[in-house]
Formats: sequence, structure tokens, C-alpha cells
Amino acid sequence: MTVEDVRIIELPKFTDPRGNLSFVEQLNHIPFEIKRTYWIYDVPGGEARGGHAFKVNEEFIVALSGAFEVIVDDGRKKEVFLLNRSYYGLYVPSGLWREMQNFSTNSLALEFGSMHYDVKDYVRSYDEFLKLKSNEEI
Ligand code: TYD
Repeated sequence: MTVEDVRIIELPKFTDPRGNLSFVEQLNHIPFEIKRTYWIYDVPGGEARGGHAFKVNEEFIVALSGAFEVIVDDGRKKEVFLLNRSYYGLYVPSGLWREMQNFSTNSLALEFGSMHYDVKDYVRSYDEFLKLKSNEEI
């Protein structure tokens, strides 16, 4: 996988004077079966989260409120995706280094995963990631 496989998917948006509504469906907007949902909140200013890669897990990330950036790196190329709308979803395939930064105050990151939590699926060393990538092991 490369950063070219990462994409922002615009989700349905029902604007309404009573408040807007958006939704996601698995195997529709989210191109995998959802096994896990988690969220990141109360991020202090200047902090970054998620500096790691997943070997198998795929992700779909939504900034439910506020904004933050997701940096995706395939070992050759890096791209920064700004999530600043509640109706944007970022699809991140497996085998990519990803980090989240520049969280706005009160931002809320919702993440869907294709796997249950599995510590063995994490690659936490960037050097190890580059090695796996160059050997085409992830
Ligand atoms: P982690 O994914 O390591 O966050 P980051 O890469 O931003 O540091 O998650 C932090 C901790 O939360 C980790 O030690 C284990 C726990 N955790 C779960 O138990 N289940 C989950 O689904 C996730 C995402 C994390």
C-alpha cells in the first residue's frame, strides 16, 4: 500500500436548520467490516497520537468535532490529510505509518478498525517499519 491508496471519503450530509446529520455504513462508505470503534478526546495542545503502523488493520477516521491532521507515510512519500469537517472520513489501508497531530481544542477523533485490538498488529519502530516495507512484508 502507498499514500496514493489513502483517501478522504465525503460522507452523506443532511443539512437541517435543527442541526445537521451524517452517517457511515460498513462495506459502503467504509470499505471493510467494522470490528472495533474507538475515539480519542481531551488531547492537550501540541500532543500527537498514533505514531505507528498496522500490519493488517485498516482504519476509517472521522473528526466528529473540531479538526486535526493525519500524516500518512509509506516509507517513500508522506502526505498530510486535514480532517476538519464532520462529514469527511479518511480511509487508511494497512501497512502505512500514520500519526495524528495539531488537534484543535475539544476535537474528537472517531476511528473504525477492521480488527479487534491486537498488540501484535502494531509496528511501533519507524526503522522496523521501513525494513518491513522494503522487504514487502507489510
Ligand atoms: P495506541 O493505539 O497505542 O495509541 P497511540 O498509538 O496513540 O499511542 O493505544 C493506547 C493504549 O490504548 C494501548 O496501550 C492499548 C489501548 N487500546 C486498547 O486497549 N484497545 C484499542 O482498541 C486501542 C486503539 C487502544
